[in-house]
Amino acid sequence: MPEPKPSFVVTPYEVKGRIDYARLREEFGTQELTDDLKARLRRAAGGALHPLIDRGIYYSHRDLGWLLDRYEHGEPFFVYSGRGPSGPLHVSHLLQFELCRWLQEKFHVPMYIQITDDEKFWARSGLSREETVRWGEENLLDILAVGFDPARTHVFFDSKSIAALYPLAIRVAQKINFSTVKAAFGFTPSTNIGLVFYTALQTAPSFYPSWADGRSVPCLIPCGIDQDPHFRLTRDIAEGLGYPKPALLHSQMLPGLLGDAAMSTTGSREENALFLTDDRATVERKVRNAFTGGRATVEEQRRLGATPEICSIWALWRSRFAETDEQFRAITDGCRSGSLLCGECKQAILPRIHAFFDQQRAAREKVRPWAESTIVTRPPHPT
Ligand code: TRP
Repeated sequence: MPEPKPSFVVTPYEVKGRIDYARLREEFGTQELTDDLKARLRRAAGGALHPLIDRGIYYSHRDLGWLLDRYEHGEPFFVYSGRGPSGPLHVSHLLQFELCRWLQEKFHVPMYIQITDDEKFWARSGLSREETVRWGEENLLDILAVGFDPARTHVFFDSKSIAALYPLAIRVAQKINFSTVKAAFGFTPSTNIGLVFYTALQTAPSFYPSWADGRSVPCLIPCGIDQDPHFRLTRDIAEGLGYPKPALLHSQMLPGLLGDAAMSTTGSREENALFLTDDRATVERKVRNAFTGGRATVEEQRRLGATPEICSIWALWRSRFAETDEQFRAITDGCRSGSLLCGECKQAILPRIHAFFDQQRAAREKVRPWAESTIVTRPPHPT
């Protein structure tokens, strides 16, 4: 019997449907982030594990074991991640950078951040150049405000850093042909040629420190699993260029408040996401109206319990708002048993979201004076 076709789509340019994450991992050919590997990471990090990994939001990887082997043999790695600026950040965007910051702190490693103002101009026809640049600058403040160490944090803002990235991107582009990107990203004859080239720019930072230092420096990329197609290409061509394949840590998407597969606002679904720029009243409205795993009536919920796995509010607790594992377990158990009702649960998370937004806004102002200085504008050597 042929397997039924999955009813979801995940590419860097489209996420839709109810995602079966285990199946996606199989389709993409990535590895499960097993308990053994998590235990190794915990040990290497000095005994603690970031909740995003511990609670299973990061659930897949490529070559993490290899990266840890090298680290244990005294070879430091660097962390690379990025953001395509198409609007204000929402909470789900920050999670990836919270994990990066944790990695930088625990492993004392450099961080490279790419802001792809070109990609979003090419991919979203509604945005002007001015808008993608302005969102890039705004998003960078929020990302740096997560707490990166300015002395060890380097930013590639594509349109401002092109002189630094281009010598590498030239070499990368030479190794990738059109039929490969067409198959990887689902491009059609009407796709603009900027996007056809773009993946070479997203690959370049993975090799940058190796290129700069003239020796092999391992790279670790935390990203949403939707970005894996880019880095599959990166890994395929790495050895041919004399660079190590980057290791990857893949996360699930944070579901949208309207019950969508991802907290995305494509197609004017503003209520689907919590933007860092939302004021209190807006946050309250969005949370109040959010899709949950609750039952139709209180009586039913008390009797049968609710379903955390499909709930957008539970996903928020899980990803960052439950401060301790005990609290996270209590919320999950209360939900499942029917002792915690959705209204109470929403009421309980609101002050935490407000506090987080306040703290993030204050931190953002502190990084403003030095943010620009993290942008790399010149290549390490002339070619
Ligand atoms: N393409 C990513 C986006 O649309 C941005 C990005 C660039 C990125 N480099 C990255 C994401 C590395 C994760 C890791 O948001």
